[in-house]
Amino acid sequence: MKKIKIESKFIVYDSIEELTIPVQKLLKKAAEAREKAYAPYSQFLVGAALELENGVIILGNNQENASYPSGLCAERTAIYYAGAEFPNQKILRMAIVAGSTKNPTTKPIPPCGACRQALSEYELKQSNPLELYFMGTSGEIASSKSVENILPWVFDKTVL
Ligand code: THU
Repeated sequence: MKKIKIESKFIVYDSIEELTIPVQKLLKKAAEAREKAYAPYSQFLVGAALELENGVIILGNNQENASYPSGLCAERTAIYYAGAEFPNQKILRMAIVAGSTKNPTTKPIPPCGACRQALSEYELKQSNPLELYFMGTSGEIASSKSVENILPWVFDKTVL
């Protein structure tokens, strides 16, 4: 037998001013996208903004549905649109701002498992790391240098 240890590392920033200007801009875009989320059932609004290599910024937010599982998370709304409209552009980074309208959310909110899987597909496709920055509606910002860092040992095309 053997044991395998997998380690994830994150950087947590105290405030947005500690980040580079492009990342600050992307987080602001994600916060704007969050304001337009359609989340009448959970009141948990999420906005995502991703920056492509050509400078284009793609926005997404969660879209809920009366048939709950038919809804879609912000991250996947954004990345599927990027895949549809700019299939050959590398995605440099994604910013995610999440929080309930009922309770303030001041801790970084990481992407759900299904979104990690979806983001991983595009990171593997482009053979380049996709940086992630995520936060609540205020407070600390966490960053991950890649999707792999938050979803190691992924289910990918090599196993099919
Ligand atoms: N949600 C996202 O948009 N992204 C995530 O990574 C986690 C959850 C959405 C789905 C649903 O509309 C609401 O947040 C509550 O789960």
